Amino acid sequence: MTETLTQLNETSQTPKLMLGKEVAASIEAELSAEIQATGLRPGLAVVLVGDDPASQIYVSHKQKACERVGFYSEKILLPQDATQQQLLDVLAGLNEKPEIHGILVQMPLPAQIDSEAVLEAIRPDKDVDGFHPVNGGHLLSGHPRLTPCTPSGIIKMLDYYGYDLKGKNAVVIGRSNIVGKPMALLMLQRHASVSILHSRTADLGLYTREADVIVVAVGVRNVLTGEMVKPGAVVIDVGMNRLEGKKVVGDVDFESVAPKCSLITPVPGGVGPMTIAMLLNNTLQACKALNA
Ligand code: GUN
Repeated sequence: MTETLTQLNETSQTPKLMLGKEVAASIEAELSAEIQATGLRPGLAVVLVGDDPASQIYVSHKQKACERVGFYSEKILLPQDATQQQLLDVLAGLNEKPEIHGILVQMPLPAQIDSEAVLEAIRPDKDVDGFHPVNGGHLLSGHPRLTPCTPSGIIKMLDYYGYDLKGKNAVVIGRSNIVGKPMALLMLQRHASVSILHSRTADLGLYTREADVIVVAVGVRNVLTGEMVKPGAVVIDVGMNRLEGKKVVGDVDFESVAPKCSLITPVPGGVGPMTIAMLLNNTLQACKALNA
């Protein structure tokens, strides 16, 4: 009887939800307090090319967040058929503009534009997305400056919930420059042992079943299911898949995975708000460095 109960407890537990929404609200309150105390007015420019509906929503969330905390913000809209030179001209202007401390070009960009060339045209000290190769290099060398917002938000959230990555087996599913790769580097910096899995990985479960912490960022619904997760694991879901009828779900099969977890993020209300809070945080950091 005792054994059965123990087994039950090991395989099924009440997971604690990591509510990024709450953590983000506390970070925003700190940022507001800091700019009020210092009199700084951080400025963020968000550049959107084309009319992708999801990108429009993300950009409006970023602008609203600036308003909430008292940052200055500018939105620059370019048409779907904008040329690369038009975009580079906009960035050249923003690079020099004193009231702008952070510049963000919403991804993805239309096919006629070379995204890498665009990211390289942003001044590294205003690169609040952390996508410039110079900032990537700082992260790789173990001395991060401006770091990508989603992965750094995940680290902040783990800190908030008291989870120490040191010595843990960590798995990242997804190898994008926006999330997967920088996530792996940030967890390595916190002394986790990190595996990066991707679409060509033969057997995801081989790694995930041994993992203490799993970050899923591939944009594929239900890529992680309950039998792939060990009891007590920590699961972070970066996915945002829009179903018909506008409901948004993550990459994790929450119903089967959550009962096995000690900590898990919901979608929505998990990672998403942290990305925006870290964007604001990076903008304040950039503002301070530029004013130093
Ligand atoms: N598209 C999806 N995520 C992001 C992000 O964090 N920053 C930018 N600029 N574009 C994105």
